[in-house]
Amino acid sequence: MRETPLKKHDILPELALNYIEVLDKLRVHTGHDFTGLQPDIAQRQINSRIRTAGCKDLQTYLNKLESSETEAVLLAQTLTINVSSFFRNPLVFEYLRQRVLPELLLKKTKRGEQTLRIWSAGCATGEEPYSIAIIVRDLVNGEDNPLQINIFGTDINKESLKIARTGLYKTNSLDNVPLRYVRSCFTRQNGAFKLDPVIRDMVVFSEYDLLDEKSRVPQISVFGDFDLVFCCNVVMYYQSADQVKIFSKIARSIVTTGFLVLGEAEELPLPYRRSFIPLPGAGHFFQKR
Ligand SMILES: C[S@@+](CC[C@H](N)C(=O)[O-])C[C@H]1O[C@@H](n2cnc3c(N)ncnc32)[C@H](O)[C@@H]1O
Repeated sequence: MRETPLKKHDILPELALNYIEVLDKLRVHTGHDFTGLQPDIAQRQINSRIRTAGCKDLQTYLNKLESSETEAVLLAQTLTINVSSFFRNPLVFEYLRQRVLPELLLKKTKRGEQTLRIWSAGCATGEEPYSIAIIVRDLVNGEDNPLQINIFGTDINKESLKIARTGLYKTNSLDNVPLRYVRSCFTRQNGAFKLDPVIRDMVVFSEYDLLDEKSRVPQISVFGDFDLVFCCNVVMYYQSADQVKIFSKIARSIVTTGFLVLGEAEELPLPYRRSFIPLPGAGHFFQKR
């Protein structure tokens, strides 16, 4: 979802100057550093949280934030915009199905490799890694394929991950899902859609901060070495210094000739353009040299 531009009256007058103070306090509480978010986004989200928390001014809010772990968690959730949907950009998933995954599967067979490793970095409520799992299963189903498929979904937001693990979704999340997959991969349950447990269990979720300087890859993935990484609609919320930090981590986690997918509004920063080739006609797919 594109952010709508900030309007002047959206910001508390005293917040424009002091939002960094809020983010500094939040870092002390949570260990997560959001000071590199785009200022207009950070200010709008903080402002929205101040109003929802019922605080009359910034100082009242800072006092509340200092004394309340719950408020810190709620603010962190407000700052991490977790909008997602299945097959969010249908052309990207079609390209994945027709071109990228068949190439990867063929390469694995030729080289006699045993595992296909995929990472959805900033997976929000799980729709992205599950969309990948649906396609992978479709492609390998019925084939005599001994390949082990590892799909990791990580996010900084614990609450989003809880939703992801349930595999339960509202109708509007499924708007872009091809009908054959709606029929074969979901069942209706109390007005929601329940993902087939076989697909749900193909994805392992874990909390992971892409700006964490102490770790190179999510612990759960052990050593990275991913054949394919989706990092869509995450870096666009950050200023360029943090974008570079995230890309440096992502770039190192991908094997040679592996693939990277970015969101529609995202570009590779300059230092990475030599090591990743954009795939022609594929929107935001890149292949590592
Ligand atoms: C707009 S959602 C994108 C979800 C999915 N990738 C998609 O394109 O549909 C952005 C996600 O990035 C996550 N995020 C933001 N900063 C992060 C960070 N530093 N580390 C890990 N995840 C982060 C947010 O929590 C949020 O769930």
